[in-house]
Amino acid sequence: MRHLISPLDYSTSELDHLMDVANDIEKNPEKYAHACAGKKLATLFYEPSTRTRLSHEAAMLNLGGSVLGFSSANSSSASKGESVADTIRTVSCYADIAAMRHPKEGAPLVASLYSSIPVINAGDGGHQHPTQTLTDLLTIRSLKGRLEDINIGLCGDLKFGRTVHSLIEALVRYKNVKFYLISPDELRLPDYIREDVLDKNHVFYKEVVRMEDALPNLDFLYMTRVQKERFFNEEDYIRMKDFYILDTKKMALAPKDMYVLHPLPRVNEISTEIDNDPRAAYFKQAQYGVYIRESLILDLLNIRV
Ligand code: NCD
Repeated sequence: MRHLISPLDYSTSELDHLMDVANDIEKNPEKYAHACAGKKLATLFYEPSTRTRLSHEAAMLNLGGSVLGFSSANSSSASKGESVADTIRTVSCYADIAAMRHPKEGAPLVASLYSSIPVINAGDGGHQHPTQTLTDLLTIRSLKGRLEDINIGLCGDLKFGRTVHSLIEALVRYKNVKFYLISPDELRLPDYIREDVLDKNHVFYKEVVRMEDALPNLDFLYMTRVQKERFFNEEDYIRMKDFYILDTKKMALAPKDMYVLHPLPRVNEISTEIDNDPRAAYFKQAQYGVYIRESLILDLLNIRV
């Protein structure tokens, strides 16, 4: 049995297959409409979510399956002190596959060790977010036609942003991807990723504080929210939260064919005036998140269409 815990759990050729199926789902949704009839997805969310939870649910519903779950730790037996191990053993009796989001790094991995159904890591603390990465890869490949030879700027909270951590790990496997790491000093990419992932793979990267210093070079600008819930004190958050605001003035410095991505939710880091710019691709990205999760669910359940 297979799980998705880390963005490296699928090889690049397996990812190609997942993305091919996702593109086919986009084109021929009716072909897949009953593929998961009789199957159930459990969403176990110990942390807030809109897109990740609802897109997993929408994916399962689009495949003709059904969904059950909880959307906060308070409404589950975690509030009574139940362990993740016991919860997943129980949920294994009720569902065929589970997606789990948890504030503790490694919780979905622990769940997978006790589970008799496939477990999807839907975000674990400041660590990883592999299904967002699948979404991002599908978006990049669909918009640009390739994952190699791209210049990507990752901007904002590179310290706590799990989407950035997972995306870097996944992208270093493709040829000639150049990273521009745009962050304030306090929110730089953690050493364990800079050294163990970027340096070790001899990948080109440049750390800059000013967005303007990277913008003209980019094929993709991946904006992120300052991760309020991971800060130890509120003053630091308030100082950092509006460090970057992408507006029309800044977009004028970017190439005409540069796409703006964001895992969402957005707070102030992308001005709403950008939403109608043809380069704004973050809502399209959310749509791709449904297709790739459909493809992932089919794969984890071993269903071929
Ligand atoms: C991200 C997350 O939860 O890490 N959101 C998402 O899943 N699309 C990003 C964020 O919350 O800032």
